[in-house]
Amino acid sequence: MNILWVYAHPEPRSLNGSLRKAALEQLHADGHTVEQSDLYAMQWNPLIRPADYDHDPTERFQVANASSSALAAGTQTPDIVAEQQKLLRADAVVLQFPLWWFSMPAIMKGWVDRVFVEGFGYGIRRADGRSRRYGDGMLAGKRAMIVVSMGGSEHTVSPRGINGDLHELLYPIQHGILFYTGMSVLPPVLIASADRMTETDYAAAESGLVQRVKSLFTDQPIPYRTQNDGDYDRRYVLRDDIEPEAIGIRVHTTT
Ligand SMILES: Cc1cc2nc3c(=O)[nH]c(=O)nc-3n(C[C@H](O)[C@H](O)[C@H](O)COP(=O)(O)O)c2cc1C
Repeated sequence: MNILWVYAHPEPRSLNGSLRKAALEQLHADGHTVEQSDLYAMQWNPLIRPADYDHDPTERFQVANASSSALAAGTQTPDIVAEQQKLLRADAVVLQFPLWWFSMPAIMKGWVDRVFVEGFGYGIRRADGRSRRYGDGMLAGKRAMIVVSMGGSEHTVSPRGINGDLHELLYPIQHGILFYTGMSVLPPVLIASADRMTETDYAAAESGLVQRVKSLFTDQPIPYRTQNDGDYDRRYVLRDDIEPEAIGIRVHTTT
């Protein structure tokens, strides 16, 4: 299988750097092909330039039209095209990053902003006019997984933890980016208390990650509800008869 490993950390000798090395060694040992987007090493430009910005100002308040996109016009810059090709070649996409201010580092957000453009990440329609997103899209059929380290302890991202439940914390990335573009999202790999690890803690974290990359193609994805299979009404609101008392992020996952 072909794995795209997208990595955002400025220091190769960091905890994240060591974990990446171990994960990639395991993937190679298992006979997989790995492509990397090491964003700091590539000096990835995270800024959307006005010329890259997809929307025609005359369409400002209209539904985006794929025919106006840079992708459709063939005017995308080579760095963006190269990343899109890597994504299309991949059977699984791993995003590895340290949690910075409750999210991915800005360089990785800028990778998403620039690569997941109209006609590639969004704005794709089926023949019947419905949009292909949330479980369908250009990246349907691929698996995705987040590997995230954080300074806080695991308790702080437990369901009643002060930082918020991990699955809710990662919802914008897992649901809003990875599932939105069609990928099946595996439960995340969390490396908590990352700033105060003993050698034993590190060994446990490394072996946990190695186990997860070994089962990258067999683990069950998070059962997010798909947009186009009947759970949502015409306004994209969950049907009244499904879990009528439930609200919030968790209603978008089947139980
Ligand atoms: C800019 C910045 C923001 C951070 N924000 C968070 C945060 O929101 N939550 C948290 O638990 N840790 C946070 N941390 C701690 C990092 O997640 C932690 O240092 C990192 O995961 C350790 O991995 P590393 O040694 O590979 O960098 C932050 C660190 C930095 C530098």
